[in-house]
Amino acid sequence: MAKTLDLERILHRQGFGTRKMCRILIINEEVTVNGELCDDPDAKFVLDNNLHFTVQGESWEYREHSYLMMHKPAHYECTHKTQFHPTIYTLLPAPLVERGIQCIGRLDEDTTGLILLSDDGQFIHKVSSPKHHVPKVYEVTCKHPLSETDQQHLLSGVKLIDEEETIAALAVTRLSDTVIHMTLAEGKYHQVKRMIAAIGNRVEGLKRIQIGKLALPETLAAGEWRWLSADELSAVQS
Ligand code: URA
Repeated sequence: MAKTLDLERILHRQGFGTRKMCRILIINEEVTVNGELCDDPDAKFVLDNNLHFTVQGESWEYREHSYLMMHKPAHYECTHKTQFHPTIYTLLPAPLVERGIQCIGRLDEDTTGLILLSDDGQFIHKVSSPKHHVPKVYEVTCKHPLSETDQQHLLSGVKLIDEEETIAALAVTRLSDTVIHMTLAEGKYHQVKRMIAAIGNRVEGLKRIQIGKLALPETLAAGEWRWLSADELSAVQS
């Protein structure tokens, strides 16, 4: 049977504030549902993706969980409490932050590119757990040219400080003397920078361009985000 819920709770769960705040918004005639004004906080609606609201003029579609991608710009941090730079969460609508959206794996402050965010714990676990080995592709710009031997080292495994085992890239493609695409199965702290340091080089620019089979779309500019489609959700997990 279709699940129904009262408008006050729906807005609260979608991230529009405490239940009391949501009740006031509704009573103050600041909420429409599917194009009609609704001033009854107890009015019940079927929970499905056809439910569309406006709250204080802002358009919003009901989603039980949120799944989105962002093109992380440089000089933003992937934490809620930042010290030196703004957080990527300031680039999202307030209701998403209020309902506890989290980024899945962090990128360094100076790294750009594809980052996924969600409020679905199971999905976050699946994509971030080392057990599931979701591969990630990085475009790495190095300070010094990379030799054939360097490339072979990255593929056969390098020893990182504080790690017992050597770590190998799944794939390395050379784009120019100093730029490679490197695919990794793990997401260890500063992994790309430490692997490149282990071959005596240094990362000058780092961009994540793919997670699973999902590539960063060229149309998504730095600082922009968008919802993931159902196909994109599967591409991430395959
Ligand atoms: N590896 C790094 O060194 N930094 C990142 O931001 C991501 C992967």
